[in-house]
Amino acid sequence: MRQGRARTVRHPRHVAIIMDGNGRWARARGLPRSMGHRRGVEAVRAAVRAAGELGIEYLTLFAFSSENWRRPKDEIEELLGLLKHFIRRDLADLHKEGVRVRVIGGRDDLSADIRSLLEEAENLTRDNSRQTLVIAFNYGARDEVARAVKRIAEKFAAGEVTLDALTADYLGEHMDTAGIPDPDLIIRTSGELRLSNFLLWQAAYSEFVFMPCLWPDFDRQSFEDAIAEYASRDRRFGGLSREIAS
Ligand code: IPE
Ligand code: IPE
Ligand code: MG
Repeated sequence: MRQGRARTVRHPRHVAIIMDGNGRWARARGLPRSMGHRRGVEAVRAAVRAAGELGIEYLTLFAFSSENWRRPKDEIEELLGLLKHFIRRDLADLHKEGVRVRVIGGRDDLSADIRSLLEEAENLTRDNSRQTLVIAFNYGARDEVARAVKRIAEKFAAGEVTLDALTADYLGEHMDTAGIPDPDLIIRTSGELRLSNFLLWQAAYSEFVFMPCLWPDFDRQSFEDAIAEYASRDRRFGGLSREIAS
């Protein structure tokens, strides 16, 4: 019985991935960065499939950050084009597989065609329950916190909430990730050791696995390795380790 419980606790319910290294993957092969991004989409498809097979309920993928607008215009165009292509090509399959799509990140500064594609993906798959794919697009954690505070300020101004009700949980309910459990495991590929403005609020007690492999090379085995590493961690949440407590 105790063993069964331990196994459940050691299996991540929500895995979030900072998919990094497409450009270096391409450069190592003498290819343009765009080719790295294209191969990166293949790795996305494989990761979504693997997450389903591995029983991961929530998979969040960092696809484009609020800071990625600093890149050259043609690279931004490529990344926006790949998102559109991915949704147009894969949405029906994701829906058939019972995947619910959620998108986090700022919507206001996206073009109307991307906004409507993202809405279409969310609306079509709203009632699916097998697996949730959270796409972080035009996402920055500081922007997200600002958006949440703005939503709450509007409610406050309208007299819909009192100061006493403004708890951490209440703030969490106003983040883009409302209703999504915090990530148990955050993976970053490409060897960089930073969060780059990803899920700062939600990562309070996440476990981190940094992998040297570049995102286009991230495969099922890499995913399983990261989960095995996660399973070996002792998550204490400020309390005592399971071994000491039991
Ligand atoms: C990740 O790969 C994709 C995005 C950030 C959109 P990069 O494009 O950051 O690749 P590197 O880090 O330059 O190798
Ligand atoms: C983080 O990667 C963003 C995504 C993976 C979408 P970056 O390549 O943008 O991060 P930095 O600039 O190296 O911190
Ligand atoms: Mg990068």
